[in-house]
Amino acid sequence: MRVFITGASSGIGAALALFYAAQGAQLGLVGRREQALRDLVDRLPEACSATHSAILDARHDAVSGAHHRIYPLDVRDRNALHAAAHDFQQSGPVDIVIASAGVSAGTLTEELDDFQVFREIIDINVLSMVATFEPFVAAMKQRGQGTLVGIGSVAGVRGFAGAGAYSASKAAVRAYCESLRVELAPAGIHVVTIAPGFIQTPMTARNPYRMPFLMPVDAFAREAAQAIARGRSYCVIPWQMGWVGRLLTVLPDALFDRFAANSKRKPRRGPAS
Ligand SMILES: NC(=O)c1ccc[n+]([C@@H]2O[C@H](COP(=O)([O-])OP(=O)(O)OC[C@H]3O[C@@H](n4cnc5c(N)ncnc54)[C@H](OP(=O)(O)O)[C@@H]3O)[C@@H](O)[C@H]2O)c1
Repeated sequence: MRVFITGASSGIGAALALFYAAQGAQLGLVGRREQALRDLVDRLPEACSATHSAILDARHDAVSGAHHRIYPLDVRDRNALHAAAHDFQQSGPVDIVIASAGVSAGTLTEELDDFQVFREIIDINVLSMVATFEPFVAAMKQRGQGTLVGIGSVAGVRGFAGAGAYSASKAAVRAYCESLRVELAPAGIHVVTIAPGFIQTPMTARNPYRMPFLMPVDAFAREAAQAIARGRSYCVIPWQMGWVGRLLTVLPDALFDRFAANSKRKPRRGPAS
């Protein structure tokens, strides 16, 4: 099995890399932090990391003869992402592509500095997911198989106060992945949307509020891999948050507004960042 993962240098992406490596998969790993990707490869199960890992160098030249491959790049750099995807596909067909790279921050529309944060969140969480999938579709169509996985969020089922950019980005992920699923189903390609609830990663470590059903990231990765293997269209993990998501979806606006008005907010980054 060959799996390409963005956001592999941390949290959910790293946990999925560890899971798939333990199954004997060959991995293509994307993130900005090269050292974090190298450290991850060092932690991958023995049987799979015994061969060398390789790095696509700054000129995006391919390095051959490797098992796992790391691609330190910013997913907003579409050319670099495509070069990495093409390099990984050169050594064999890719079975699963997981777009996990993502960022989260509180945003307020009246704070003019937050516009850049809005742009960054939409760029990374939405447009870079499109750029991640693009270079794999033709080859998957040719083989009549393959799975594209978008990491969404329960935060995308309604608009949460103080999180306009993040909620909007994850609502867009859900709608985009649904469109893609219907488009690509006749070609034999599965598109799976995984919507995490609260998972223990560096992203949630900063949250200054209680997180119901907070789940360890390795348990999350096991369940996500099961959903991916089954070709589930949309799957909330943990399942308890699936019910919360369903409830939120059908809650009348008046009730939702009352509930959401008092909920604690994700901190903004502030004008300096
Ligand atoms: N944790 C949760 O409870 C939770 C809940 C719902 C949804 N999610 C979603 O799950 C995904 C993973 O989140 P996480 O919890 O694992 O967060 P995390 O630990 O902060 O990891 C985020 C990953 O995204 C990568 N990334 C961010 N911006 C990037 C960029 N411009 N270019 C390349 N890579 C970039 C980071 O790598 P570098 O920093 O090395 O670039 C890192 O590997 C995100 O899409 C997030 O929205 C998480």
